[in-house]
Amino acid sequence: MEKLGGGATDAIAVLPSAPVFIRNNDVEHDYRQDSDLYYLTGFDEPSSVLVLSLRDRKATLFLRPRDKEREIWDGPRAGVDGAKSDYGMDASFVIAELSTELARLMENTQRLYYRIGKDKGFDERVLTALDTLRGRARRGITWPTEMVDTGKILHEMRLFKTEDDLAQMRQACAITKEAHSLAMAAAKPGMHEFEIEALLVETFRRHGAERAAYGSIVGSGPNATILHYRSNSRKMQAGELLLIDAGCEYGYYASDVTRTFPVSKTFSREQRAIYELVLDAQLASIDATRVGATLEDGHAASVEVITKGLVKLGLLSGEPAKLIADEAYKPFYMHRTGHWLGMDVHDVGAYFVGGKPRKLEPGMVLTVEPGIYIGREYDKVAPEWRGIGVRIEDDILVTDGAPMNLTESIPKTVAEIERACAA
Ligand code: GLY
Ligand code: MN
Ligand code: MN
Repeated sequence: MEKLGGGATDAIAVLPSAPVFIRNNDVEHDYRQDSDLYYLTGFDEPSSVLVLSLRDRKATLFLRPRDKEREIWDGPRAGVDGAKSDYGMDASFVIAELSTELARLMENTQRLYYRIGKDKGFDERVLTALDTLRGRARRGITWPTEMVDTGKILHEMRLFKTEDDLAQMRQACAITKEAHSLAMAAAKPGMHEFEIEALLVETFRRHGAERAAYGSIVGSGPNATILHYRSNSRKMQAGELLLIDAGCEYGYYASDVTRTFPVSKTFSREQRAIYELVLDAQLASIDATRVGATLEDGHAASVEVITKGLVKLGLLSGEPAKLIADEAYKPFYMHRTGHWLGMDVHDVGAYFVGGKPRKLEPGMVLTVEPGIYIGREYDKVAPEWRGIGVRIEDDILVTDGAPMNLTESIPKTVAEIERACAA
């Protein structure tokens, strides 16, 4: 509310809930509230809209009415009374009144905060309310003549984690740690990837995490080289690596962790060489995750270590500086080293400010996740290197001092991994 002013004499912000997506016929996809709306309200029902109005400093929630019949099928609803008593709203209306009330709330307001383009159906309702007001101009009514993306305020707030945010993130990371550790102990040749996926999700839910923060990637052997592998359907073979990129969502906050380990409990010579190289790169990038540095600096640190290491292993040849300039590492390392992490796994917040990579500040959380992927058919290297994929990913909090790794205790060195696999 305080931030809505910002030079405007009057402003309102309109934040709709996430839409419900139909899976087929009358069956819906699992519902998850829009992160912005949840961040401001803790309210998780669909068909709701929050309006913040600066003029009277009021928070108004539009929501579904109580409905005895529907509540038998779908469970309790807060209703207009619950919006005030349980969610601290100043005013509440049933959602059917939105069209009339939205125009009224916008009346004589200079600025509208709204994230246009995200929900086209809702855009239509907002634009109709605006047009309705313009049609009343002769009665002396004015309408918002400025529209500002809500993200300009809200996503900056979400980028900087409070102690409350971090408490949820730490819990998400603790549950994710258990899931990865159990997976290391459980995986063995002959099992299917989906058995490990089931173990991960079971562990998340058993500890009260609402859901996985994204579709778990469980890729064995050559599947470890497919960045967004999702079918998790293959039978694991002796001697292969298993790459698991999985994290739970707890209290609407995500964790995002990748570990790669040998299905047969010990690394082969080539697997170990690639693994230790990715680990060196990851540690260099984590160390670069400091106030004043940028995500670009972290990426450059991994690119340098990986390029030099690939030359040492004979997988690239040439002068490292030139290879980096020519992006010769890209057939092996084709993605970026990290992203913001928070309520969304690829979280909100500007990556560039004034056209320049943004400098890190305390309270930001990001992933550091370099990898090396040698495709099964990549014939520019000797056959023993082909089909090896390794990524290592941790969740890092930027502090005034050293970077704080929220997922540090998940087995990561070769010795720790081999011990966890033998457990
Ligand atoms: N799991 C998605 C990512 O690592 O960015
Ligand atoms: Mn990940
Ligand atoms: Mn990630």
